[in-house]
Amino acid sequence: MLLRFISKRPWIKPAVGVSLGVLVAAACAHEKPSNVPSGGGPAAQGGAPSSTGEVSDAAAASFSMAHVPKDLPIGVSPTLYALSVSPANVPTPDKVALGDKLFDDKRLSVDGTVSCATCHEPKRGFVDHKVTSEGVGKQRGQRNAPTILNAMFGETQFWDGRAPTLEEQAKLPILNPIEMGQKSPADVVAKLRGIPEYVDAFQTVFGREVNYDDLASAIAAFERTLYSGDAPFDRYIQGEEKAIDASARRGWALFNGKGRCNSCHAGNAISPLFSDQKFHNIGIAAHKQNFPELAREAMGIVQLGNEKQIDELALETKFSELGRFLVTKQVSDVGGFKTPTLRNIAVTAPYMHDGSLATLWDVMDHYNKGGIPNPFLDGGMQRLGLIEAEIDDLVKFMTTLTSEKFAALGRAEMAKQTALKGTRPQRDTAVAMGKKGDLGDIAPDPDLKVKNPADIGAFGVYVDGGR
Ligand code: HEC
Ligand code: HEC
Repeated sequence: MLLRFISKRPWIKPAVGVSLGVLVAAACAHEKPSNVPSGGGPAAQGGAPSSTGEVSDAAAASFSMAHVPKDLPIGVSPTLYALSVSPANVPTPDKVALGDKLFDDKRLSVDGTVSCATCHEPKRGFVDHKVTSEGVGKQRGQRNAPTILNAMFGETQFWDGRAPTLEEQAKLPILNPIEMGQKSPADVVAKLRGIPEYVDAFQTVFGREVNYDDLASAIAAFERTLYSGDAPFDRYIQGEEKAIDASARRGWALFNGKGRCNSCHAGNAISPLFSDQKFHNIGIAAHKQNFPELAREAMGIVQLGNEKQIDELALETKFSELGRFLVTKQVSDVGGFKTPTLRNIAVTAPYMHDGSLATLWDVMDHYNKGGIPNPFLDGGMQRLGLIEAEIDDLVKFMTTLTSEKFAALGRAEMAKQTALKGTRPQRDTAVAMGKKGDLGDIAPDPDLKVKNPADIGAFGVYVDGGR
């Protein structure tokens, strides 16, 4: 992940003769977690460069940590901060204050009813807890509002990655007809120029009149203060064994083992967000749409690269379900959505790009049966054969990713989810256990009366189901 981060961030120029690999290894050397549980710890996951701790002078000189805040909470990687926030774009207090005010100001919308905070409410963990969001005139969009916590570390923004930066992202909801409904940047600027406090604030911060780029820049500066770590899991991985209970510890092992979650949500020193930042079709939209037909139809409409058009198709039309395909027009991206961070996941229900899963148990039921089959389903999806106790352990693990700041909210939200545990619309134990259906894979604990072991071939792996 860091490699891709660097390649997209021109302010990080490795010195001549220093490979990026060396730079990453050097940058990560001091962030090695000390508590690596055997058999399922971060070191067991692919992708981490083996860091020897030796930092060459050239690599160190080309990589600056000077502007990284000294008080970052545990779990927020200083290296990732340095890679994500350019030295030239360090959020200054007055810029952050302006951005915070804009984020919370309903006057940014066409009719004065909706602000960014309406859908990303700070006290709700920067979400709205709705299935899909509601904008001006109570219009409903097609997608669930993700949290803004740690969005600053995203390689791209939105479920489909259609915006490359926080600045570009911030410009879109204001102009989206069903979000904040403004007709044009000129309209927004004219409105703010009529508000004396903004005239003054923009002069102080940027030394010029209100304009749309600076507005986006101030909001982005505010968002770059919304890093979030300091979760029980962070204390655990730093060596405090008892920071999470035995069930959560078993859940962490399942996360990296039988549950296969780490293939997309790896959590380690170079992937502290529990996301590979890639796009996958995990079969969320599949039960609602006829993908191939929809994709054909969309090809006739989408103009590649028109961010505003994609924004409207994504939020207002049935094409929303095509996901990343709307951005790339690559068939392999049909129904693909960004792997979201799992930090603070207990406070941000409901889940998935369409908010279709109400609880973390529903999420587990979805994964346990291997997702919903469709022609574009990610190869990494297969049924898991998890028993109920293992599902509970995985859910427990996920609740340890809540920042101390949101601990009370996390407990309240989990109480609501626990109350819904009796209703499990996605649950299909027969499929999960490999007794029904055929996804072309081998179930973790195949029923040999249904599947002939001779057909299993080289890919068959028997995993002890623990029953
Ligand atoms: C009407 C509700 C609504 C409003 C208003 C709104 N958002 Fe969002 N926001 C959403 C939804 C829904 C998404 C996901 C849309 C998608 O991915 O297609 C989103 C996505 C985002 C993301 C991407 C996060 C990620 O991890 O990919 C950021 C950042 C964001 N919004 C910031 C803002 C800012 C800044 C404003 C104000 C200028 C704002 N939002 C206004 C609903 C809203
Ligand atoms: C093949 C990659 C992949 C694997 C494997 C995977 N996930 Fe995901 N995960 C995703 C993607 C992509 C999404 C968003 C999908 C969407 O909205 O359509 C997601 C969404 C989620 C969400 C909802 C996040 C939110 O903010 O709404 C949770 C929770 C989650 N995954 C947990 C897990 C757990 C636990 C496992 C292991 C049992 C797992 N994932 C395995 C890729 C993966």
